[in-house]
Amino acid sequence: MSQPPRLFFTRACFPEIANYLRSAFEVTENPADRILSRAELAARLDEYDAVFAMPSDQFDAELLQQSKRLRMLGLMAVGFNNVDLAAANARRIMVSNTPDVLTETTADFGFALLLAAARHVTRAEHWLRAGKWQRWAYDGFLGMDVHHSTLGIIGMGRIGQALARRAAGFSMRVVYCNRRRLAPQVEQACGASYLSQAELLAQADHLILTVPYEAQTRHLIGAAELAQMKPGAVLVNLARGGVVDDAALAQALQSGHLGAAGLDVFENEPALHPALLELENVVLTPHIASASNATRRAMAKRAADNLLAMAQGRPLDWVNPWE
Ligand code: DGY
Repeated sequence: MSQPPRLFFTRACFPEIANYLRSAFEVTENPADRILSRAELAARLDEYDAVFAMPSDQFDAELLQQSKRLRMLGLMAVGFNNVDLAAANARRIMVSNTPDVLTETTADFGFALLLAAARHVTRAEHWLRAGKWQRWAYDGFLGMDVHHSTLGIIGMGRIGQALARRAAGFSMRVVYCNRRRLAPQVEQACGASYLSQAELLAQADHLILTVPYEAQTRHLIGAAELAQMKPGAVLVNLARGGVVDDAALAQALQSGHLGAAGLDVFENEPALHPALLELENVVLTPHIASASNATRRAMAKRAADNLLAMAQGRPLDWVNPWE
C-alpha cells in the first residue's frame, strides 16, 4: 500500500481540522503556533507534499521555485497575495483559498469599523475608562452620521456587494468603482451606482476598500487620492495593508482633512506605522474582519476540504488553474 501524502500546518489551527485531514494525509501540526522562519518553511517544502497555510506565511517566487516536494497549498484565507502564483504554476503547485464563507462576517465588520470610526466609539470608551467623564456635554464626541450619507466602495466583489446590501438598512446612497462594471441587474440588487474612482472619492462621505492586493492596487489610496476625498470623510480599510499608503493616511488624519479611519489591515502588519498609534481619530484592529467563531471554523474546514480535493487531483477553490 502506498504512503499517504505528507501535510504540515504552518501555524496552530482548530484541532478537529488536523483530525479531519488525517483521513487522507500524514499530518504534522504546529501547536506552538510559532511563525516559521523562511529557512524553516523552505526546509518543510522539501519534505512535505501539502501545506495548510495562513495569511501570515509568505510563499515568494524563490521559495516556491526551490521547493522539491510541495504540490498542494491550501490557504485559510480568501486573499492569496502572500503566494507568488506564477512560481506556483511553474512548479505545478495547486493553490486554493476560502472564498464565500467569510463574505457576510467581513461585511459586518466593515460596518463595525465604519460606525466605530465615524461615531468615535473606541475613542470615547478610552476616555470614559480613563475616568474623564464628569457630565453629559452637548458637544461631546461629535461624529459623522452614517445614515443617509454616501458610501463609496472600491472593490465590488462579494464583500463589496455584501457591504452595499447592508448600506440599504442605513438609507445610504451607494457608489462603487471596480475593475469591471457590474451587470445592471447586480447593480440594481445592490442599489449601487458605478462611478470613476475620481468621482467616487469626491462624492463619498465614507469610503470602504475591499480590493485584492496586487501590483496594480499597491498604494491605490495615497496622498493624491486622500486629497481628493471630502473634508471630514471616513476611510475604512478591510482589504490589505499596502492598498493604502499608511504614512499618507496618518498625515491626512493628523491634518484633520480626513475625519476618521477604521483599519483592520496594515502595510507591515503586525508592525504599525507609529503615527497611526498616536492618533485618536483612528480605530485599529488586528486583522480580525473574518474572525467570528463560526466563520473562522468554516474557513478552516473549507481550506481542509480543498486539500482533500487536491489529494484527489483538483481543489474546489483553485486560484491558479493551469488547465
Ligand atoms: C482573508 O481571508 O484574506 C483575510 O484577510 C483573513 O481572514
